Amino acid sequence: MRLLLFKRKLPNKLTLNMFNEKKTISDDLWNDITNGEIAIKYTDKITNEWICNINYRIHTGQIGLLFVNNLYQRKGLGTEMLTNAIKDICNRSNVSNIWAVTTNNHPYWNNVKINGQKFHSKTPAHPSVTGSGYVLENIRSIFTNKE
Ligand SMILES: CC(C)(COP(=O)(O)OP(=O)(O)OC[C@H]1O[C@@H](n2cnc3c(N)ncnc32)[C@H](O)[C@@H]1OP(=O)(O)O)[C@@H](O)C(=O)NCCC(=O)NCCS
Repeated sequence: MRLLLFKRKLPNKLTLNMFNEKKTISDDLWNDITNGEIAIKYTDKITNEWICNINYRIHTGQIGLLFVNNLYQRKGLGTEMLTNAIKDICNRSNVSNIWAVTTNNHPYWNNVKINGQKFHSKTPAHPSVTGSGYVLENIRSIFTNKE
């Protein structure tokens, strides 16, 4: 018996609306802020396979967990999640900087552009932490100037 396996060829560009979204709002326990933390997870609409996820804290501008399934990387999903998170933070709080604690010379944070603006490395990434990371300053001007 011949078994034919069809491997799905993914397009070069993917968008989040191709997937199921599950959004959870919880308390930001680190900063003691009720409903201050948002977690969004995307899964395949048919197989329920995990695609990507992001966590962020509304009142400090911290991006926490940002992960894309290896098979789906370099197709725009990470940046679409990050851009949506920054817009959401802009709408819900008055913080001006977005930041993440992460390793130095990170390939994504070194290169990603949000409306043409790049993050820069900073130690500490934010006054509330000791670790190094990346910062995007003055986020409101990024969207108001170019959209
Ligand atoms: C970081 C991560 C979420 C990025 O998600 P992604 O969907 O692959 O990223 P995008 O497709 O939006 O990439 C946008 C741009 O970032 C840069 N970039 C992303 N990954 C890169 C890599 N490995 N090397 C160099 N540049 C990279 C590129 O400039 C890319 O644009 P291009 O593909 O047109 O050249 C994903 O690579 C990942 O899950 N990595 C492992 C976990 C991790 O390191 N998370 C961050 C910890 S805070």
